Amino acid sequence: MAQNVVVIGSQWGDEGKGKIVDWLAEQTSGVVRFQGGHNAGHTLVVGGRKTILRLIPSGILHEKLDCYIGSGVVVSPEALLGEIDELTAAGVKNVEGRLKIAPTATLILPYHIALDQAREASRGAQKIGTTGRGIGPAYEDKVARRAVRVVDLFDAGSLAGKVRANVELYNVQLQHLHNAPPVSFDEIMAKIEGFKARVLPMVHDVARTLYEKNARGERLLFEGAQGTLLDIDYGTYPFVTSSNCSAGAAAAGAGVPPHMLDYVLGIVKAYTTRVGSGPFPTELFDDVGAGLAERGNEFGSVTGRPRRCGWFDAAALKRSIQINGITGMCITKLDVMDGMKEIKICTGYEFEGRHTDILPFGADAVAKCTPVYETLPGWAESTFGAQSYDALPENARRYLKRIEEVCGAPVAIISTGPDREQTILLQHPFA
Ligand code: GDP
Ligand code: IMO
Ligand code: MG
Repeated sequence: MAQNVVVIGSQWGDEGKGKIVDWLAEQTSGVVRFQGGHNAGHTLVVGGRKTILRLIPSGILHEKLDCYIGSGVVVSPEALLGEIDELTAAGVKNVEGRLKIAPTATLILPYHIALDQAREASRGAQKIGTTGRGIGPAYEDKVARRAVRVVDLFDAGSLAGKVRANVELYNVQLQHLHNAPPVSFDEIMAKIEGFKARVLPMVHDVARTLYEKNARGERLLFEGAQGTLLDIDYGTYPFVTSSNCSAGAAAAGAGVPPHMLDYVLGIVKAYTTRVGSGPFPTELFDDVGAGLAERGNEFGSVTGRPRRCGWFDAAALKRSIQINGITGMCITKLDVMDGMKEIKICTGYEFEGRHTDILPFGADAVAKCTPVYETLPGWAESTFGAQSYDALPENARRYLKRIEEVCGAPVAIISTGPDREQTILLQHPFA
């Protein structure tokens, strides 16, 4: 029986992690974000009402639940407070009181955003297609050991010196490398003064609380952001995000021992999407791809950018299953495949004159992959909102079985619509 479950994205993000975390959260005593920042956009639909979360864990709609932001997250206080205010305005109770932030988390400050955007502009056609939220520069500060961390906000003696040193460094880059306007030290300090008092009560020894909850036998849910193919090490580098978004990052990013994590639920979209630049072997440029984008409403929840769409890539999934140790898969957006005459699954690639059954590492290698497909019959019936496996058309079940066979991991949950209730449970992760 699993006490603690890690939910991760198995593809290039936007698999439907938020929906499933919200659905599973009811069974737990806390939901923890462990990496990424407000580059994430996690959509929850409850009773037809939509909520998009960026930084706040997707358990927040359960009104008694505490939500944790671990040390591995990069936190923009402005984005955080904005999100709290949006939720509060929408009637969610006591958001601020239920949100606990690790003191060692790295802050995203205005110079990170300025540099992220200036760099992308300078890269022109070579751009990564970042969300422009300052994620990469903030993680750079962390590993360069010059980050301003949450705890630093409350050390009046050292804060100004740390911010000033970074402002000087960033202004050299902004002005001289990117011909962009400098940031103002005074304005940044004024902003910090503006939000400090609201952040302070949320600062909390997250690692200790999670340790103690676990010791008491309480269940915890760890919520990944982005997806394994965007992982800084194992993704399509350099077209990746700046954190490890695979399951292993949950321990380090939340500050819990790895043996606490006993079930990895891989969220897997029934087809593939990607937003931003970078290679995507099964991408479709025809009406079939346009149909998936339209039926799946594939527009970024953070930036509104159209998502690129393609066939299900089992060879990429195989990589993801190995890296994350996926215990069970949750297949989402099955309903988007309704009405397709035939469906293709990529089972491997032609790569440098030979066949391979697994996605190679890095953008250069992935760009050389030509997918090898097998074709399955589609189904005409609607699966939208189905709540039982038996209600699915035979060919939909056949598609799911084939995914299991080729990927080598079992399907535990199937999602048939955006709403919490539009879910088929085969094997409960906490059971
Ligand atoms: P996340 O980043 O992994 O949490 O995913 P996003 O929220 O960015 O994108 C998933 C989108 O698909 C959201 O608009 C969800 O409301 C929607 N969604 C999730 N599951 C399903 C499903 O099974 N069917 C349909 N049609 N939409 C879904
Ligand atoms: P969720 O959690 C999809 C992509 C960006 C870009 C690359 C780097 O909603 O699944 P960054 O701003 O992180 O430096 O951008 O990563 N990206 C995502 N794509 N879903 C996400 O999050 C993403 N977060 C970042 O589009 O290609
Ligand atoms: Mg998303």
